[in-house]
Amino acid sequence: MGKQRVLSGIQPTGDLHLGNYLGAIRNWVEMQQDYEAFLFMADLHAITVPHDPSTLAASTYNVAATYLACGIDPAIACIFVQSHIPAHSELAWLLNCITPLNWLQDMVQFKEKAIKQGENVGAGLLNYPVLQAADILLYEPDKVPVGEDQKQHLELTRDIAARLNYQFGSDDHPVLKMPEPMIRAEGARVMSLTDGTKKMSKSDPSDLSRINLLDPPEEIQRKVKRCKTDSVRGLTFDDPDRPECTNLLTLYMILSNQTKAAVTAECTDMGWGQFKPLLADTVVAALQPIQEKYHAITSDAGYLESVLHQGKERAEAIANVTLAKVKAALGYSQPL
Ligand code: TYM
Repeated sequence: MGKQRVLSGIQPTGDLHLGNYLGAIRNWVEMQQDYEAFLFMADLHAITVPHDPSTLAASTYNVAATYLACGIDPAIACIFVQSHIPAHSELAWLLNCITPLNWLQDMVQFKEKAIKQGENVGAGLLNYPVLQAADILLYEPDKVPVGEDQKQHLELTRDIAARLNYQFGSDDHPVLKMPEPMIRAEGARVMSLTDGTKKMSKSDPSDLSRINLLDPPEEIQRKVKRCKTDSVRGLTFDDPDRPECTNLLTLYMILSNQTKAAVTAECTDMGWGQFKPLLADTVVAALQPIQEKYHAITSDAGYLESVLHQGKERAEAIANVTLAKVKAALGYSQPL
């Protein structure tokens, strides 16, 4: 039997941060040897909120460079740009026509983002999860490794696949393969540095709330120094009244490659004054090799272009087969 397949993507909006790394990219790096990995930049999703055309292409390339800098190996993983493959938009349309409107109106991320945009909510924001379902279902992955915040979108993807299979397939011949979400316990929900009850996010207006993967060492030191803590002495995991403490200890644990027991033993008697410099140095050391590799990759534009060209060829061949299968099931004729 061949390898199982995984697929995942990131929107090229804003700088990638520790949440994107620990919730998603780091897991992809660990899986790429054992699975056939399809990883993409979700640039069609990036225009569901107001965007700047002059930076879209560069941001997309920078996310690709970040994947490589974090350790994705283009010799084994397939890296591609969503908008380079028209099948994403086309399958999204077909799926839109079988998706009940109330499923989309109930999505938490839609409600949150719609509130932020006030009067100006585009239909794309509502239909966003249908495009995400198309992204996934086109590649027939076994697993979709993402952070906790994507769970609802993956459940919707499964609901849409089940509905299409029920309406247009049969039990013996489902049209679409059912994907499984893969959400790791550690790092699946990295919280904001300024509020331990909110997730770290690219769209938070305060840059102090997140550590970006490309932040220089002095910026990381400054952000950790200023991050929110509490006045309790001693540091412990899992106290519901100390969300910041759990978040910062978890970051330290993952980035220093230690177990929870080891970090608990090391930090239990520490005060913030002792812990913060330790955390800052750990983050700086973990990000330094990523940053060096990123700068090397972005200084050679031709290299990145060739990676993305190869990725497109490989991904598109698979996407087109699934699209043709869905169109046939829906009753479309083939062009002569
Ligand atoms: P995006 O770009 O918001 O996030 C990319 C990945 O990073 C994870 N993530 C986090 N993990 C832990 N803690 C956090 N604070 C944190 N913030 C973000 C996300 O869970 C995600 O795995 N809709 C998707 C992009 C997408 C996609 C897809 C993903 C489009 N099509 C198909 C998977 C499959 C999004 O906006 O992710």
